[in-house]
Amino acid sequence: MNVTFTFGTVVSEIHIEESIHSIRSIIGSVSSCVLVCDENTTGIAASIAGKGQIQNSGDQNTLQVCGICVLPAGETAKNWAHVEKILKAAKDAGLGRDGVFIGVGGGVITDMTAFAASVYMRGAKLALVSTTLLGMVDAAAGGKTGFNLFNIKNFAGTFYPSPLIIMPLETLSTLPMREWKSGFAELIKTAILDSNDDFLDRIGGLKDAFVSPNFPTSVLRDIVLRSELLACIAKAVEIKGRIVEADPKETGTRRVLLNLGHTFGHALEVSVGLGSLTHGEAVAWGIARACDLGRSLGITEPERAEKIMRLLVSFGYETRAPHSCMEETGRFMAALFNDKKKKADKLTFIVPDRNSCIAIAIEKEEKMEIERIVRIIGGEVI
Ligand code: GLY
Repeated sequence: MNVTFTFGTVVSEIHIEESIHSIRSIIGSVSSCVLVCDENTTGIAASIAGKGQIQNSGDQNTLQVCGICVLPAGETAKNWAHVEKILKAAKDAGLGRDGVFIGVGGGVITDMTAFAASVYMRGAKLALVSTTLLGMVDAAAGGKTGFNLFNIKNFAGTFYPSPLIIMPLETLSTLPMREWKSGFAELIKTAILDSNDDFLDRIGGLKDAFVSPNFPTSVLRDIVLRSELLACIAKAVEIKGRIVEADPKETGTRRVLLNLGHTFGHALEVSVGLGSLTHGEAVAWGIARACDLGRSLGITEPERAEKIMRLLVSFGYETRAPHSCMEETGRFMAALFNDKKKKADKLTFIVPDRNSCIAIAIEKEEKMEIERIVRIIGGEVI
C-alpha cells in the first residue's frame, strides 16, 4: 500500500509492505549509501545490503553500500555522540552529497539518521525503513529529526522529510511486547485526533488479541486481524500525513495537536530518567493527564474522557496519577518547564474536545493554572 504526501517542498512516498524482501527493489538503484541501524536491526540492514541470510536473487537493482553504522538500541542512545558516529561513518565511507543515508530501525534510529542526513554537507539524500509500530505510526513520517540534548527530549533537531519511507510489517514479528505497547499508545493518540471516534473504536477491536498470551502471533498470523492492523497503521499514517501537509513546520494550529500526551509524557520520561519508560508508556500516561486537564477546564466531556481512559486501561497502560515511577513532583515540574514545546513562558497542552483535540497555552506566571497542573499530576480529582 502506497501513500504520498507533500511535506513543504518534499514529496514523501510511504510504502506499507508485508515483507522485508521488497525493500531493496523499492529503494532501487543507489550508487552510494550508508546504512544506519541498531543492534536489533542489523539483520534487516544486512538483508538490504544483500549480505545477510536473505539474498535478493535476480534483483536488478544495484545498491552500493559504502558503510554500515551500528548503534546501541534504545532512547539513551539518542544523543549527539551517536549522531557524530553516523556522520563519521558517512565521511569515512567517502559519501558525497549525492549519497544516501538509509536509516533502518525504530524512531531513535530514523530520527538520528534523518538529522545526520540533514546536516551532512548541508543536506544529503535520505531513505528510511521503519521497523517498529511506533516508528510506522508516528516517528518516521512527517520530517521531524533530532536527538536528546541537555536532558531535554529532542532538543536539537531539524525538519527534513524523507522522500522515501518503507514500513515492512514483517519486522513487527520480533518486536518486544513493550515496544508494541509503546506503538499502540501513538496509534491511540492519532485516533483521538480523528474527527470522530470510529478509528478509536477500531483500535479497541484489536485489544482482545493484544492482551492474549500469544500476541503478536495472534494478530500477525490471522488474516483478518493482520489486515486490520495494516489498515490501522495506514489510517494513522494518513491522518498524520494530512495534518503535516497542512502545517509542515508546526507554525500553524494543526501539527501541534500531534503532541497530545507529549507535554506531560516528555516531562515524565525525563523526570524518571530517559529510557526507564518507553515513549509510548509516557505518552499514554500523558494522554490520561490531558483528559484530566481537559475535564477540569470543562473542555473534555466526561464521557469522552472516560472512553479514552477505559481504552488506555484495557491496553494495560499505567494511567493513574502520580505515576508509580515518580518520586516527587518537583522534578516533574522542572522537566515540564524545560520542555522544548514551551514557547516563551507558555506551556502548550493538547486536550481532547468533543470530536478531536485543541491546544491550550498556560503561562508560567498563571499561578492558579500551574497549581491545577501540580494537583493533576499529584492525582487529585479536580
Ligand atoms: N511526533 C509528532 C510530530 O511528528 O509532529
